[in-house]
Amino acid sequence: MTPEVIEADGVRLRQFRPADVADLAAGCGDPVNLRFNPGMPQPYTEADARWWITEGAPAAWATGGAAYAIADRTTDRLVGGAGIGQVVPPRRQAEVGYWVAPWARRRGIASAATRALADAALRHGVDRLELMTHAENPASQRVALAAGFTHEGVRRSAGQLRGGGRTDLLAWVRLADDP
Ligand SMILES: CC(C)(COP(=O)(O)OP(=O)(O)OC[C@H]1O[C@@H](n2cnc3c(N)ncnc32)[C@H](O)[C@@H]1OP(=O)(O)O)[C@@H](O)C(=O)NCCC(=O)NCCS
Repeated sequence: MTPEVIEADGVRLRQFRPADVADLAAGCGDPVNLRFNPGMPQPYTEADARWWITEGAPAAWATGGAAYAIADRTTDRLVGGAGIGQVVPPRRQAEVGYWVAPWARRRGIASAATRALADAALRHGVDRLELMTHAENPASQRVALAAGFTHEGVRRSAGQLRGGGRTDLLAWVRLADDP
């Protein structure tokens, strides 16, 4: 995908920038976020946030995915992140992921951002967009439903747990030709 600015329902998806470091470190460092994103470093420091802004996010774009900051449309302050990864070009398939900072939750931000990003991905060549949630993450399951995804099944042992071990993941899917 190519970076653009996407505005929808009170949220703005834009590129990360150096001024996001403190908000990014505070948001990603939240224990609930770290639990459900076991690939993020713990503790999540401002150095980790700087690495993401200068290297991690650009690498996601370079591999055909997306790594957007979710920003408040009024203040432009960072309130979360939403991205596209696991891009499989021959299958025209990818996966969407997201997180919202604890101080911005339960205001519809993840739902709006995920729907807008999914719409963009499905307009730009992805035919099948997956979304994986932990069985113990009802908030994320609500986001999947609110963003138009259909529950497809259980991916046995597809998730890794922080500290070791594996867990089942629930698979949700949106297709480009879904009504
Ligand atoms: C999951 C997460 C992204 C939700 O973000 P959010 O902006 O608060 O979500 P929304 O405000 O769009 O809420 C979506 C739905 O979830 C529900 N919800 C939100 N938080 C909830 C909670 N803690 N428990 C139960 N339901 C919850 C909302 O009521 C809403 O339900 P509705 O569609 O029936 O009205 C956020 O809690 C988060 O970042 N969690 C940690 C990281 C994570 O789990 N990422 C997803 C990995 S798959």
